[in-house]
Amino acid sequence: MQVNITLNPSASRNYTVFIDELSRICLDVKVLIVTNTTVSALHLKSLKPMIQARELHTLILPDGEMYKNFESLQLILNACFEHRLDRKSVLIAFGGGVIGDMTGFAASIFQRGIEFIQIPTTLLAQVDASVGGKTGINNPYGKNLIGSFWQPRAVYCESLFLKTLPKREFAAGVAEIIKMAVTFDSDFFAWLETHDLYDEKHLRHAVHSSIAIKADIVSQDETEQGIRAVLNYGHTFAHVIENQTQYTTYLHGEAVAIGMVMANTLARHLELLSEEECHRIQTLLEKYLLPTRYIIDDVDMFYTHFFLDKKSANDAITFILPHEIGGYTIAKGIEKERVLDALKECNAS
Ligand code: NAD
Ligand code: GLY
Repeated sequence: MQVNITLNPSASRNYTVFIDELSRICLDVKVLIVTNTTVSALHLKSLKPMIQARELHTLILPDGEMYKNFESLQLILNACFEHRLDRKSVLIAFGGGVIGDMTGFAASIFQRGIEFIQIPTTLLAQVDASVGGKTGINNPYGKNLIGSFWQPRAVYCESLFLKTLPKREFAAGVAEIIKMAVTFDSDFFAWLETHDLYDEKHLRHAVHSSIAIKADIVSQDETEQGIRAVLNYGHTFAHVIENQTQYTTYLHGEAVAIGMVMANTLARHLELLSEEECHRIQTLLEKYLLPTRYIIDDVDMFYTHFFLDKKSANDAITFILPHEIGGYTIAKGIEKERVLDALKECNAS
């Protein structure tokens, strides 16, 4: 299966996401695989024979979001220089979203930009992070605050690599799949309600559908001037939860699951979503044992934290809210009291 990403204005940057089609990648240039300790121990041995290159090098970084920083970026760039990579060389990101985002960013700045390929090994990275060209690192001021838009030359999503994924990481990826269905595709949502993603055949269909949705959005709005922001449904709340829990309690997809339920409550207060639709979304999240509840100590403080989000442009909070299942509203200027009421209800329920 394949999904094409069509980018304007230059067709030369178009690329394909291949789903379960990786047999061999032939590149007559120097190639550097960037991965981490966990993924290399599990899968590097099976990946390497699939890559044919003039020279094949590997860099293994430590595992974890806390290593998505300048030091790791420096290690990738150093490896590029040590192996004498040139402007024709290619980086391969082999890992989850952390490896993908850092490797893409390094590719975008090494010698003013070289090509890179994404081989995502988490479900979250397959359905979201590896597609669309957002790259970057964290710094003490926040997550993903330094980065670039730099599209990969190709993406290979292989279900083979997902077999070793811990259950929680799998569910975190499912949260992003549900996110796409709720905001863009009611038929896909209904399909998710009746199909089990632990079944490999169904999972492949869901990965394909999610990537097709993302491809369509990125093709329309590569640099998030408009519709791409809808992919942040649940994230405004999730970022506060992740920040308040020091990024240690919840995986990103888990925080997004709670964030979606909070966004749904606000959407219901604004009569965009019915009680029954809220219930259907929560039931689907809970089917994958995703958390849907977070007790807010201080709702006023929680509200203030929205303004720390880099997406709160010009001090106005933008909420991405579902408008019936399969639709969305980009809501600006909602009165503070209405938001607080929704947060209080989430606390009480
Ligand atoms: P991750 O990269 O940290 O991977 C999660 C964990 O799973 C890690 O410990 C990793 O080593 C391990 N892992 C990876 N593949 C495995 C496998 N096949 N088997 C067993 N373990 C495996 O996290 P993630 O959830 O993939 O991605 C989160 C990151 O992606 C965040 O940094 C987030 O900011 C970023 N992100 C980027 C975009 C984007 O558009 N660029 C979108 C969403 C998220
Ligand atoms: N994950 C959100 C985006 O790619 O825009």
